[in-house]
Amino acid sequence: MNLIIFASGTGTNAAAIIEWFKANGKARVSLIVCNKPGAGVLNIAEREGIPVMMIDRHTFDDDATVAALRAHAPALIILAGYLWKIPPALTQAFPDRIINIHPALLPSYGGKGMYGGNVHTAVIAAGETHSGITIHYVNEEYDKGNVILQAHCNVLPGDTPGALAKRIHKLEHYYFPRTIEFLLDNMEA
Ligand code: GRF
Repeated sequence: MNLIIFASGTGTNAAAIIEWFKANGKARVSLIVCNKPGAGVLNIAEREGIPVMMIDRHTFDDDATVAALRAHAPALIILAGYLWKIPPALTQAFPDRIINIHPALLPSYGGKGMYGGNVHTAVIAAGETHSGITIHYVNEEYDKGNVILQAHCNVLPGDTPGALAKRIHKLEHYYFPRTIEFLLDNMEA
């Protein structure tokens, strides 16, 4: 089974997913889609010999992108630190096949502007005592698709956004590959 990962950050989640499925052989990451030249995830793709498709807001073409993705017959398209809103052409072409991970407990701290360190800064500023991760389906509304899994962690007194991000990353690296495997194991053909 093929997996496609969309990522535009450092790619630690992408790396965790690649490693997990290399070890159990149930699927393989056949393509990484990236919109950020120089992103860390590109080094991971190169190291692992995984093809990369760069996309650009100005030249993005719905039909060509859907066709390029379809050529991989992906069991799932996984957004792992991907910052653009997915265009409706993609959610329509791959219904219930696109999932995202968000570094907070949706519906709180979701929506525009809430990504990466911004989320953790907002969580700490609000005095929350816990945060967590949300793995969810992607539909046309940003951060609003059905939730697949949430996992919680504490926000500790004196936490910085960086310290909280580390705790969140641990949850993500543990639960994201396992959740993907669960979905693959229970997928209608
Ligand atoms: C993760 O925290 C994810 O939840 C968010 O972006 C971050 C990506 O981190 N959407 P990485 O690039 O996988 O290290």
